[in-house]
Amino acid sequence: MSTACTPLILGLETSCDETSAALVDGQDHILGHVILSQDVHEIYGGVVPELAARAHLQRLDDVVAGALRQAGVSLTEVDAIGVTAGPGLIGALLVGLTWAKSAAFFLDVPLLAVHHLEAHLFGPILEHPEAQPPFVGLLVSGGHTLILWVPRWGSSTWLGATRDDAAGEAFDKVGKVLGLGYPGGPAVEELARNGDPVRHSLPRPMLRRNQRVEDDDYFDLSFSGLKTAVANLVDELRSAGTYERERAHVAAAFQTATIDVLVAKTMRAVEHTGCHTVLVGGGVSANNGLREALKRALGEEGTLFHASPRLSLDNGAMVARAARFRLERGDIAGLEADARANMPFPGLERLGESDALTIN
Ligand code: KG4
Ligand code: ZN
Repeated sequence: MSTACTPLILGLETSCDETSAALVDGQDHILGHVILSQDVHEIYGGVVPELAARAHLQRLDDVVAGALRQAGVSLTEVDAIGVTAGPGLIGALLVGLTWAKSAAFFLDVPLLAVHHLEAHLFGPILEHPEAQPPFVGLLVSGGHTLILWVPRWGSSTWLGATRDDAAGEAFDKVGKVLGLGYPGGPAVEELARNGDPVRHSLPRPMLRRNQRVEDDDYFDLSFSGLKTAVANLVDELRSAGTYERERAHVAAAFQTATIDVLVAKTMRAVEHTGCHTVLVGGGVSANNGLREALKRALGEEGTLFHASPRLSLDNGAMVARAARFRLERGDIAGLEADARANMPFPGLERLGESDALTIN
């Protein structure tokens, strides 16, 4: 017999290479949570979409069963089902969505179609109930890098985004250049621990001292040039025969350059909005150096919200929590709901030139 506070929500995440299911109750208690990372992609140095979809299909039943078992509830006790409907790999998304639709139909409970990046904003609240808007949101994952102004849940203004690679993608590509496995992020961070970040100098793309808020790259980011600079540096070091000795220093220089840009652009958003609270979400927010640098930049009077690494990376619990928000708003999805590789962020508006941002 369950002691969960209603609504008890089953959240499913299958947008990329984690197969995850969680049961979260109405008081943000995570009653059961299974995250299965697909190690098959390591052989290929990156996520292979077809293999990701197949792996979700093979494992989702067991992952859900495991989460239910942990929670001590049966599927028939679930009050609603939330599932990532986009953005993500279309085949991978369809596995989760089809499972969720079938279960919602069979159980006759509401189905909630969750946006993956909105779910990342809900990660920290599961551990820190005070992680609520208003805040500047920094979303840093393998597929996206976005700076938002979030005055309240469900509504946000786009301030900046990467124009090419996502921050996590840059970590993954640099990981590959440095001969580390996939995903590159944690491995680069580990290697950088023994490196000197100023021994090699790397560019800080789209970061100039005299930039003004009117400039269209004031909040925007770019990482592909940085990745190329790392590749060129590695080539030079190889030719000089010093690569092995310098590897950790290169990792440290790359990580510091990436963090410098992310922090500087986020602090511009802080200044622009006057809101000294930042929420960082997505896989790259598991990076210790990034979290420490954001905390330092925000100083004593500022606040940083972030989740533990487990809830920063893709997981079903954040999906269940975002689904509860959608359920409370009455945004129920019908059985015709579709997976969308490029699903638009709900409630996100572009910053118009004359827009004034206010905290109230
Ligand atoms: O949010 P996430 O789990 O999946 C996507 O939505 O893409 O983010 C995965 C990304 C990968 O690119 C991975 O390399 C990166 O997050 N990542 C990290 C760290 N842990 C994961 N990047 C830097 N430092 C880390 N410790
Ligand atoms: Zn993600």
